[in-house]
Amino acid sequence: MKLRKKMVAGNWKMNGSVELVNQMANAVKAAELDNVDVVVFPPFPLLSNAINTGLNVGSQTVSHEEAGAFTGEVDASLVYELGCKYTLVGHSERRSLYGESDSLIAKKFARAQSSQLIPILCVGETEQEREQDLTESVISKQLDAVIDDLGVVSLDKSVIAYEPVWAIGTGKTATPEQAQQVHQFIRTKIAALDADVAQSLIILYGGSVNESSSELLFAQPDIDGGLVGGASLKPDSFVSICQSAQ
Ligand code: G3P
Repeated sequence: MKLRKKMVAGNWKMNGSVELVNQMANAVKAAELDNVDVVVFPPFPLLSNAINTGLNVGSQTVSHEEAGAFTGEVDASLVYELGCKYTLVGHSERRSLYGESDSLIAKKFARAQSSQLIPILCVGETEQEREQDLTESVISKQLDAVIDDLGVVSLDKSVIAYEPVWAIGTGKTATPEQAQQVHQFIRTKIAALDADVAQSLIILYGGSVNESSSELLFAQPDIDGGLVGGASLKPDSFVSICQSAQ
């Protein structure tokens, strides 16, 4: 059975500076994190600086459109040309604050792949949906938007991030058991369509990951690493989380 290499991604959201890019690059290089894939997602203005330090970099979103008259939008092919390997797609903040629908997210996913980027598809339920026992149906719907449009094989060159909305930015990390249960559901759902894709698929957990929670989370059989927000803005904390994935 092919072992999945762990990944730790840092989503800076609309935070950071040139100084933080340099500090992060120095800290990551010094840590010699050879057994984990580390990716940082800084705000757009910092992408070039981050790429030039040698960090593995991704875009926080891309347009679903090809180049054209779309003022303010970000062309996926230019992001790839700049040197990004990944893009987030469907982060809960894009869904809740900027009204991105499942169908738009599927289009962004497709555009990312056609531009040779690896999309990280973010899925997750709200607190109310969890309390109503709707977690699995919500996540199924979010996954099916991509699978129905592009086929399960499209997930082969992608990453999935399970980010329960109630854990994002709240300090309320999902327990390892809670997270593993949903990760296992995701992998089982995909395995019913394509066992090979499911087996090799990287599924990250995101939502208040920190130095004290990462090790037990990453030890779960279906958790292949983390998508880290707040803690990714602190080089020592982020490196410590990456080290716990090695
Ligand atoms: O994309 C990762 C982010 O949504 C998680 O944020 O601050 O809860 O780690 P945070």
